[in-house]
Amino acid sequence: MRLHSLPVRALGLLLALSQPAGAQTAPVVPPAPEPAPIQSDEARLLPVLATRGMVSSQDALATRVGVEILGKGGNAVDAAVAVGFALAVTLPRAGNLGGGGFMMVHRAAARETVAIDYRETAPAAATADMFLNPQGEPDRAASTRTGKAVGVPGTVRGLAEAHRRYGSGKLTLADLIAPAEKLARAGIPVESGLADSLPRASGLLGQWPSSRAVFFEGDHVLPRGATLTQRDLADTLRTIAEQGPDAFYQGPIADKIAAAVRGAGGIMTAADLAAYRPEIRTPVRGTYRGYEIVSMPPPSSGGVHLIEILNILEGYDLAGMGAGSARALHTLAEAMKPAYADRATWLGDPSRTKVPVAGLTAKSYAATLREKIDPERAKSAAEVKAGDPLPYESDQTTHFSVVDAEGNAVSNTYTLNFSYGIGLVAEGTGVLLNNEMDDFSAKSGARNAYGLVGGEANAVAPSARPLSSMTPTFVFRDGKLFLVTGSPGGSRIITTTLQVIVNVLDFRMNLAQAVAAPRIHHQWQPDVLMAEEGISPDTLALLRAKGHNVKVGATSGSANSVMAEDGLLAGASDPRQRGTLAEGR
Ligand code: GLY
Repeated sequence: MRLHSLPVRALGLLLALSQPAGAQTAPVVPPAPEPAPIQSDEARLLPVLATRGMVSSQDALATRVGVEILGKGGNAVDAAVAVGFALAVTLPRAGNLGGGGFMMVHRAAARETVAIDYRETAPAAATADMFLNPQGEPDRAASTRTGKAVGVPGTVRGLAEAHRRYGSGKLTLADLIAPAEKLARAGIPVESGLADSLPRASGLLGQWPSSRAVFFEGDHVLPRGATLTQRDLADTLRTIAEQGPDAFYQGPIADKIAAAVRGAGGIMTAADLAAYRPEIRTPVRGTYRGYEIVSMPPPSSGGVHLIEILNILEGYDLAGMGAGSARALHTLAEAMKPAYADRATWLGDPSRTKVPVAGLTAKSYAATLREKIDPERAKSAAEVKAGDPLPYESDQTTHFSVVDAEGNAVSNTYTLNFSYGIGLVAEGTGVLLNNEMDDFSAKSGARNAYGLVGGEANAVAPSARPLSSMTPTFVFRDGKLFLVTGSPGGSRIITTTLQVIVNVLDFRMNLAQAVAAPRIHHQWQPDVLMAEEGISPDTLALLRAKGHNVKVGATSGSANSVMAEDGLLAGASDPRQRGTLAEGR
């Protein structure tokens, strides 16, 4: 019997007898060729199992904070808020106070799912041409590396609003911030993903004295084995805990953030921070092979295009083609392309542009797109414009999933955009600042850092939210929560989330295998089929024979997920990064 053919239920029975929650199992893919010893995070073949709650995140310390909060009687939202604050300390490249994101919340008793949009906004003084150089071309340095790149952060008010509206009521916001403050003040070991990411960010962080003070020891970033202590961040967290989220948006902390942004050439004011508000949105919904898909609506493109692609795929027998087969991968790639073409044209901030969500997610629309797919040939190069190779870095954003004993769940993706944002810690606050303004279209038809083409619908405008690809998602079966998933990965977030769902629903993989399986990505432009290591050379040759411009690259995403079935929770953290952890109770 092959393990990947076992449904999660059978696996659950098998594993309940043989594995304590949190146990690690044999590697399914080779570890990354890094010199550091593999710790608790080798690739996993089987999910972790539990019955009373599960947290899966990109950092073990943060996962444990979430499990601790569940143990204190907190619900999934309480745990998720605590994880969100903890990741700002333990995963500074993506966890944040100075960025923004999206939280999907499912409330089991109310049978209600809501979407909290705490995406950054453009400052009030932003203009459509602010990222164009004198020649009228996009100025990528300005939109990624200077103070102009910084959007008004949404994370603190977003997490606080989640707690206020949907927390259990048993724990205060201060209770949920306390573990993060403790980690920041006591310090955390530089190991795992932190030790991997700091050297790569050395140039970015090293240009700002306030960032050097936190992340450097002498002339170098903190080495593996050192301790990262963040006293200013601890003080900021304590201030928020004592005075509430407004203390981040008004008063000394806000003044310091605005001063740091302006000192770096930006336009954000203290008034922009004071004006920031999260939005409660209605999720976007679709179905796939009888399961209900509930995901993030605009200003994320994630949910809309996840459903659009699934609608196209529903017309194919993917299971019959076989997981990892050239036929299945070709079908996936050809279904991805029209969705990304639509993204470039139609998607933007819904407060500024009419996004045709119903049309894009309609089964009948997908049928018209499906008709154009040739099962034997990739769409010709003439149908797409040539482009730059895509960046393969995958750790800019972070996703975590939480389910509690009552079936309440959180699917949260948040980000600084690039790894460590612009690399600038606002002096005296410990807060790293985002470069989310690059997610706007600097010019219609121009590409952003992820090679994504954007249109007028995503132009820079005062107080607008830049278009995102973040795709925090729930899958329901017969009205009951079945899967919580999502991922970082820039433009690849949508296709990563898609493939976890397809791996579970079509290919019947257990959750750990669904998360670990090699992934592909095609975003229409540039005309490149990105493939992770691990797809067989035979398959790649068949894809090339069909006309795909295949490029094999590094890792894609970090899909920290939870599955619920028959009272059992299965958790899987992504083996692509060190230090990820799914843990239950
Ligand atoms: N910053 C990446 C995204 O929001 O899609």
